[in-house]
Amino acid sequence: MAWIWPTMSPPAEYIEEAEFLTNLIKSYMTYSPKTILHLGCGGGHIDMTLKKHFEITGVDISKNMLDLAKKLNPDNSYVRGDMRNIRLEEKFDVVLLYDGINYMLSERDLKAAFETAHANLKDGGIVLTVVEETPSSFQQNKTHVSHRTGENIELTYIEHWYDPDPDDSTYETTFVYLIRKNKKLTTEFDLHICGIFEVEVWERLLKEVGFRPKQDTFTHSTFAPGEEYPILIGFKK
Ligand SMILES: C[S@@+](CC[C@H](N)C(=O)[O-])C[C@H]1O[C@@H](n2cnc3c(N)ncnc32)[C@H](O)[C@@H]1O
Repeated sequence: MAWIWPTMSPPAEYIEEAEFLTNLIKSYMTYSPKTILHLGCGGGHIDMTLKKHFEITGVDISKNMLDLAKKLNPDNSYVRGDMRNIRLEEKFDVVLLYDGINYMLSERDLKAAFETAHANLKDGGIVLTVVEETPSSFQQNKTHVSHRTGENIELTYIEHWYDPDPDDSTYETTFVYLIRKNKKLTTEFDLHICGIFEVEVWERLLKEVGFRPKQDTFTHSTFAPGEEYPILIGFKK
């Protein structure tokens, strides 16, 4: 379903959060950061704004999403790889583990992603990551309906959160799409399995790989009005 990403989640909708992340990064760093490694960069929608402030290298496991990112941001570097094990020659000032981190399904995978961040960072650099769901704040059957229009396309999609087993470390996000291309209706269905851990687990794992973690708060006026998410900043000594 990568092709629908620019219609479903347009790059302009990420400007506010990318500017928020930029300010946060600059406020936490002791020197002026120039380079960001974005693990799980998807279609490069956040990168479109981040690149005004930093040099961006994006990594994603999906070739189709990387193709979108390259098309949107031809001046950025994009590399196909897995956030659990990719090691690049260059070391970066900042590693961003944003919404792609939700696909880490076990503590082992989450820790592996943090190890990747640590290995690819300069000394004095930071990792920045956002905790979208925790077992204690999860809302069973939360449902959002959204509408978007693009060129010759109208899209309505339903996003539904469900945890079939609250005792394990995963939950489901299900998408149902009503797609009208030139008024002709098709429907699609997509099930995403995501990981869910308490903030204390994220902090413990960050410490175990060598980061000194600090917590801040993320808010978004349009994407999640009234909701707050913990942001974790890990300092590499
Ligand atoms: C919601 S999308 C990110 C969208 C992105 N914020 C943007 O600006 O377009 C999540 C991404 O995480 C990627 N992903 C999932 N597991 C991954 C892994 N193990 N390594 C790298 N990328 C991964 C997916 O392929 C997907 O593109």
